Amino acid sequence: MEYIVETNKLTKRFGKEYAVEALDLKIPKGEIYGFLGPNGAGKTTTIRMLLGLMRPTLGSIQIFGKDLTRERIDILKKVGSLVENPSYYPHLTAYENLEALRKIYGVPKKRIDEVLKIVRLSDVRNKKVKGFSLGMKQRLGIAASLLNNPELLILDEPTNGLDPSGIIEIRNLIKRLATEEGMTILISSHLLSEIDQIANHVGIISKGKMIFQDSIEVMRRQSQNKILLKVNDCKMAWNFLISNGIEADFSLESISLLDRKDENVAMVVRLLVENGFSIYRVEEEKRTLEDTFLQMTTEERAI
Ligand SMILES: Nc1ncnc2c1ncn2[C@@H]1O[C@H](COP(=O)(O)OP(=O)(O)OP(=O)(O)O)[C@@H](O)[C@H]1O
Ligand SMILES: [Mg+2]
Repeated sequence: MEYIVETNKLTKRFGKEYAVEALDLKIPKGEIYGFLGPNGAGKTTTIRMLLGLMRPTLGSIQIFGKDLTRERIDILKKVGSLVENPSYYPHLTAYENLEALRKIYGVPKKRIDEVLKIVRLSDVRNKKVKGFSLGMKQRLGIAASLLNNPELLILDEPTNGLDPSGIIEIRNLIKRLATEEGMTILISSHLLSEIDQIANHVGIISKGKMIFQDSIEVMRRQSQNKILLKVNDCKMAWNFLISNGIEADFSLESISLLDRKDENVAMVVRLLVENGFSIYRVEEEKRTLEDTFLQMTTEERAI
């Protein structure tokens, strides 16, 4: 697989605290990568390092196959970003704010009209930004991040503080950018539901460490419901199953089977009965993705 972003043991320490620890982030080309983690997990710190705004304590960053420290200027030319509370000139219009940035990037003037159109702000281009709603400001921030026609777009919690319709609008915009412009997009969020609805690849970070990274399909599969068994002597039954090569977990006085196929459940039940165990219950565990995420982030355990 071709990765647009690849970090190797990326680490950031503030004093004694590790904000980001040995992170191997891999963002496949053309994907919407959801970077998920609760507050304080290290998302913004990681993003700041990817954008060269903060120096890593340890580790390396490759973007477009190039080393960020060595080819920073070349790389950042092709990256667009929106990081926590972008600042604007409130007394200037949307157009004028973008014009100020356009000069820095040195892109043609018509690009301003293009990006305003993409984020659907063309109608209010001559309105002063101080009268903008949060959602409009957020869209202006995305417009600004698109000025340089980036191949990689990095958005730190772009839907934060938006109302449901604003969230849907930004979500659709991001999907459009990926499909129509072929951009690779990193979007961070602390909400699983948000990432579930937009991303096709997921990295979950908790306390600075990556605890899961794969496609959204794999995440969904792994968080599928399991089969719970209640047996007279659960601990002993579990040991017996494990020693017979059956994948099972033991917790809360019950056994959970990872393979929930009918044949497997039947085989396990038969095996236990034949070996003298009494089965009290066989039930399906009801678990949502949300539960899995909460469990992963509170237990600091990889799934
Ligand atoms: N400049 C700094 N100096 C000291 N500690 C910092 C600094 N920046 C971040 N931290 C700490 O690093 C940890 C990760 O913070 P970070 O902002 O990266 O988290 P986050 O995942 O973006 O959280 P949120 O969802 O709240 O935005 C936190 O414990 C934070 O207090
Ligand atoms: Mg943050």
